[in-house]
Amino acid sequence: FDRRKIRNFSIVAHVDHGKSTLADRLLELTGVIKASTENAQVLDQLQVEKERGITVKAVTASLNYTFKNELYLLNLIDTPGHVDFSNEVVRSVTACQGVILLVDANEGIQAQTVAVHSLAKRNNLIIIPTLNKVDLPRADPDNVKSQLNSLFNIDPDTVLSISAKKGWGVKELLEAVITRIPPPDVNPTGYFKAHIIDTWHDKYRGVLCLAYIHSGTVEIGQEVKWQSNPKQHTVKYLALLRPGEEPINKATAGQVVMVGLGPKGGGSVGDHLLSIEATDIDQTNNAQPIKHMVYAGIFPADQSQHIFLSDAIKKLALNDSAVSVNVDSSPALGQGWRVGFLGLLHLDVFTQRLLQEYKAEAILTAPSVPYKIKLKGSKIIKHYKSEEVIITNPLQLPDSKHIEEYYEPFVMGTIITPVEFIGAVTTLCVDRRGTPLPSSAVDEKMTMMQFILPLSEVVIDFHDTLKSITSGFASFDYQDYGFHPSALVRMDILINGTLVEELSTIVHTSRLEYNARRLTEKLKEMIPRQMVQVAIQAVVSGKVYARETLKAYRKDVTAKLYGGDVTRRKKLLKQQAEGKKKMRSVANIKIPRNTFIDVLKR
Ligand code: GTP
Repeated sequence: FDRRKIRNFSIVAHVDHGKSTLADRLLELTGVIKASTENAQVLDQLQVEKERGITVKAVTASLNYTFKNELYLLNLIDTPGHVDFSNEVVRSVTACQGVILLVDANEGIQAQTVAVHSLAKRNNLIIIPTLNKVDLPRADPDNVKSQLNSLFNIDPDTVLSISAKKGWGVKELLEAVITRIPPPDVNPTGYFKAHIIDTWHDKYRGVLCLAYIHSGTVEIGQEVKWQSNPKQHTVKYLALLRPGEEPINKATAGQVVMVGLGPKGGGSVGDHLLSIEATDIDQTNNAQPIKHMVYAGIFPADQSQHIFLSDAIKKLALNDSAVSVNVDSSPALGQGWRVGFLGLLHLDVFTQRLLQEYKAEAILTAPSVPYKIKLKGSKIIKHYKSEEVIITNPLQLPDSKHIEEYYEPFVMGTIITPVEFIGAVTTLCVDRRGTPLPSSAVDEKMTMMQFILPLSEVVIDFHDTLKSITSGFASFDYQDYGFHPSALVRMDILINGTLVEELSTIVHTSRLEYNARRLTEKLKEMIPRQMVQVAIQAVVSGKVYARETLKAYRKDVTAKLYGGDVTRRKKLLKQQAEGKKKMRSVANIKIPRNTFIDVLKR
C-alpha cells in the first residue's frame, strides 16, 4: 500500500464526550458495519467495557475510504480515555500522526480534555478540534470554541462541529482526517522494522500483536527476530483488523497490522519486530517504562482455588501488559500475589475481568502507593540491592536508623470546576496536603485549577469527594509528578503485643495521630469479643500513638437454644468450627479474615 494514501489517527476525549459513538459512525461510513442500533459500540469488545460504558483496551480498525477518486487506508487506533489507562493512550499515539480532539459542545472542556490535548502536543501530532453533540438543545458551540481558543490557542475557524449520534458532519470530519493529517513518515524500502503497540492471547495461535510498521515490508513466511531476542521466527499470521481479522499476505511501512509468530513466537508491547538482516537497534520509539501507581494484594477466596486463580491472572496479565505481578503471601490470606496497577480504576477493571472472563473469585487488600527510600551513608544493607529502593509493601521498609531520606510519589492534578466551588475545591486539596499552582479561566463560569498532590491522598476517594462537594460539576485528571522527599513513618499494629504484619502502613507524620486513632477504633469495632481482654495498639518505632481495649466476653452460640433440639445444636457448633477456618489467629486472638481487607479502607 502506498504510504501516501495511509492515515493513522486516533480519537481522544474526556470520558463520555462520544468517542465510541463517533468510532461507530466512522465504521458505518466506510462500510465496515451496517447502520443499526445492534452494532452499538463495536470497538468496545470486552464485557466489562459494555457494563461500565468505558473503553479499556486499545483496539484498531483499518478503514477503506475513497476521496477524490483515490482509495485511502485510514487506520483508526482506538484509545481508552481514562487517566488510569494513559499508558495505553501513549502507546497508541506512537503509531499516529494526528488525533481528533473531541469535546462535548454541551459540557465544554473538561480536565481530561486538557490532559489528552497536552499528550497530543507533546507527541507533535496534528490536532483536529471537533465539537460533538451539537444536536443537543443546550449545546453552546461558540462558547466551547472560545474555551479552546483561550486554553489551547486553537483558531475557532479550524474547529469542526458534529453530532456523532445523528451522523451530522461525520463525512466532513473523515475528509479532514485525510486533508489535515499527514501520511506516516516512514521508509518503505529499508529493512523491515515494526513497533508492537498491543498484544493479546489466542488459544490456538499464541500471542497476536498489533504492530506499526516503521520501515520495509513484511509477508507471510518471512523470517524475523525480536529486538529483545535474536532467535529466529517465521511470520505465520498477518491481518488487517476491520475490526474483524482480514488475512493479508503482505504489509508495508506505515500500516498498522496484526502479526502472529505462532504459539512459541512470543511478543510484548514496546518491543520491535525486525527482519533478520537488521542490525540497527533503534530505541527511539520505545514506549516509556510503565510506572505502577497503586499496589494491592490479590488472594484466592479459597486456597484450593490457588492454581486456577494463578492461571487466570497470568492470562489476564498478558492481555493487560500494564500490570505487574509478584508472588506474595500473608498469614491471614495465604498464598497470593502483589499486583501493581496504573491507578484505582485499572485495579477495579482488572479484578472485574478476573471474575467475568475467568470466573475467578479473589480477595483484594486495600490499595497502597509505592514509596522510595535512600539508605544512609550510601550503604547497601542486606536484602537491598541499591542505595535507592522502591517500597511496594510497608513490611519491606528497613529500620528507620538505616534510612537517610523518604520519598513519596506526587501528581499534578488538573481540576475544571464552576467558579462557585473554587473555595471548596481549595479546601479539599489543601486538606489532602496539596500545593496550589496558578489557575486559569476557562470562561466566565468555569476555571481550571492545578495542584501538586501526594498520590496517596488521591488514590483512595479523592475523585468521589470532589464530585460530591461540587455537585458533580468538577472534573479531575492527574499526571505523574515524580517522587519527592516527605516525612514518612511506618506505623505498626500490635494485638496483645504481637505485630500484625498485614496491618502495617506507611503514613505521613502529619496524619499519624489521626490514622493511629482511626485504625485502632475501627479494629475494636471489627474484632469480635474474645475470652480474654484484647489490647489493640498503633505503634511507631516502639512509641504507642493510640490504644483501644476490647473487654473479654465468653461466646457460646448455643447458649440461647436452651432445651433445643440436639441436631440444631450440633449444626451450630459445626458452623462455628467452619467459621474459625476463616479466622487469622494472632497471639491466640481470632480475627476474621475480612477485617484485614475492610479496616484499611478510608
Ligand atoms: P468512554 O468510552 O467512556 O470514554 O466514552 P465515550 O467518549 O466513548 O462516549 P460514548 O460514545 O459512549 O458516548 C457517551 C454518551 O453520549 C452516550 O450516551 C452517547 O449516546 C452520547 N452521545 C454521543 N455522541 C452524541 C451526540 O452527538 N449527540 C448526543 N445527543 N449524544 C451523544
